Amino acid sequence: MRTGAQVIHDVVGVGFGPSNLSLATALEEHRTDVPEHPLTAAFFERQPAFGWHRNMLLPSTTMQVSFLKDLVTFRNPSSRFSFVSYLHAAGRLANFVNTHTFFPTRQEFHQYLEWVEENFSDRVSYNSEVVGITLPPEPAPGADQYLRIEVRDRGGSGTRLVHARNVAVSTGLVPRMPVGVDRDDRVWHSSEFLDRFRQTDLQDLRRVAVVGAGQSAAEIARFLHDTLPHTQIFAIVPSYGYSIADSTPFANQVFDPEAVDHYYFGTDRTRDAFWQYHKNTNYSVVDDDVIRDLHRRVYDEDVRGSKRLHFLNLTRVSDVKRAGNETRVSLESLLDTESQELDVDALVCATGYDAMDPSGLLGDLDRYCLRDAAGRYQVGRDYRLVTTPPLTCGIYLQGGTEHTHGLTSSLLSNIAVRSGEIAHSIGRRRAEEEPGAA
Ligand code: FDA
Ligand code: NAP
Repeated sequence: MRTGAQVIHDVVGVGFGPSNLSLATALEEHRTDVPEHPLTAAFFERQPAFGWHRNMLLPSTTMQVSFLKDLVTFRNPSSRFSFVSYLHAAGRLANFVNTHTFFPTRQEFHQYLEWVEENFSDRVSYNSEVVGITLPPEPAPGADQYLRIEVRDRGGSGTRLVHARNVAVSTGLVPRMPVGVDRDDRVWHSSEFLDRFRQTDLQDLRRVAVVGAGQSAAEIARFLHDTLPHTQIFAIVPSYGYSIADSTPFANQVFDPEAVDHYYFGTDRTRDAFWQYHKNTNYSVVDDDVIRDLHRRVYDEDVRGSKRLHFLNLTRVSDVKRAGNETRVSLESLLDTESQELDVDALVCATGYDAMDPSGLLGDLDRYCLRDAAGRYQVGRDYRLVTTPPLTCGIYLQGGTEHTHGLTSSLLSNIAVRSGEIAHSIGRRRAEEEPGAA
């Protein structure tokens, strides 16, 4: 559809990580199923090319979900965009099966995502950041409502407007630093790790500390231990050592598509139980093999009498002082009441992420989005924000819905099904507005 010379897309996707890439496949499959009424889409991604947590693509790191939880399979097992189709196209299907694993390396999964992305590059603008979403100032009476999406292209001057009936916001997790600690060339968040590491003269890194007890911290500590053989590495761990990520079969059911319904339609007590019992499937936990590998290294160093991987357990970072290349870290230990200081050449804060928050993009539109008693967005089962007039366009969230849809909100586990549900909702609403379209 057009307003004047301006195309109105059925949906504009903000961000083009795995979630909106999965949505692109769902819309494409909708096009095949309902060829007479294709849903049109355009995606905007601020990175210069497709990239999935590139700064954490450390050697040998593996996926934390089965390859069958790819972009499509749980929605459409016969999709041509599956990981198995990718393996077949890459000529590795037989040999992948010989590995006997459900968990490919993150590097291989990244190649799979890029392989799928090649099918949609005509619909994605890279180097293009969405900076705001608004309603047109004076819609013509009776005209279909649309949203104006403001896009800033890198290297361009000013911004441009794109129009859509719906947006799918999928901007990802937001890196979180310890309170009062700023990033710079010697104090890094894990999300920027490889870029920073490559920019640093490795001769300068004689003492490096890694903060946190999650998967990122453990993987970075292991990488540093492998890559910098003469460096002292300090793991600053808030618990009494790394704890295991529960991926046992019954607990893993919290990531099943049905669990979303149990969570969404459950009571507050239901939702609380999910968190109390199963937070350790994802947060502040580490895969078993990485824990055992690191423990073996510490033990072997002990036996050899040459320690360089040091664990500071029950310890939190409370402050960081910087001067030139010097970094002094203040540590609070729960083992005693003393605080201590640690001098390092670089500090890596693998201190986790905050959930996606669309409020900055929504700006003034935020006042039409209903919130619950705790101030969180009300979200429909179809991942659409619950809005009041005059806002009738769909604002769909891929992320930021842990409070309504549960633990899979920021993960890959359910993106195939979630994208299908969003595509279906957009198609259904379009059909209601325009009988004959479905
Ligand atoms: P993702 O963050 O991947 O993508 C969002 C995109 O939006 C980014 O490309 C960003 O540049 C772009 N963007 C942001 N703001 C924008 C704007 N205003 N305009 C335009 N573009 C914008 N989960 C899991 O289930 N299994 C796993 O194995 C892993 N592994 C894993 C490893 C690491 C290192 C991390 C940090 C996280 C994981 N995760 C995970 C969880 C992770 O959230 C998940 O893998 C996906 O990245 C979620 O995909 P999204 O597309 O939702 O976000
Ligand atoms: P995370 O699990 O949230 O862990 C952050 C850690 O930092 C927690 O242990 C936290 O402890 C600690 N922390 C925060 N502030 C601190 C402070 N001031 N001092 C000391 N410790 C502090 O984050 P993550 O490890 O980045 O993992 C995020 C997501 O990415 C998860 O879903 C994870 O599975 C995923 N991931 C996957 C892979 C992979 O696929 N291979 C790799 C990396 C990450 P408190 O909770 O006590 O504050």
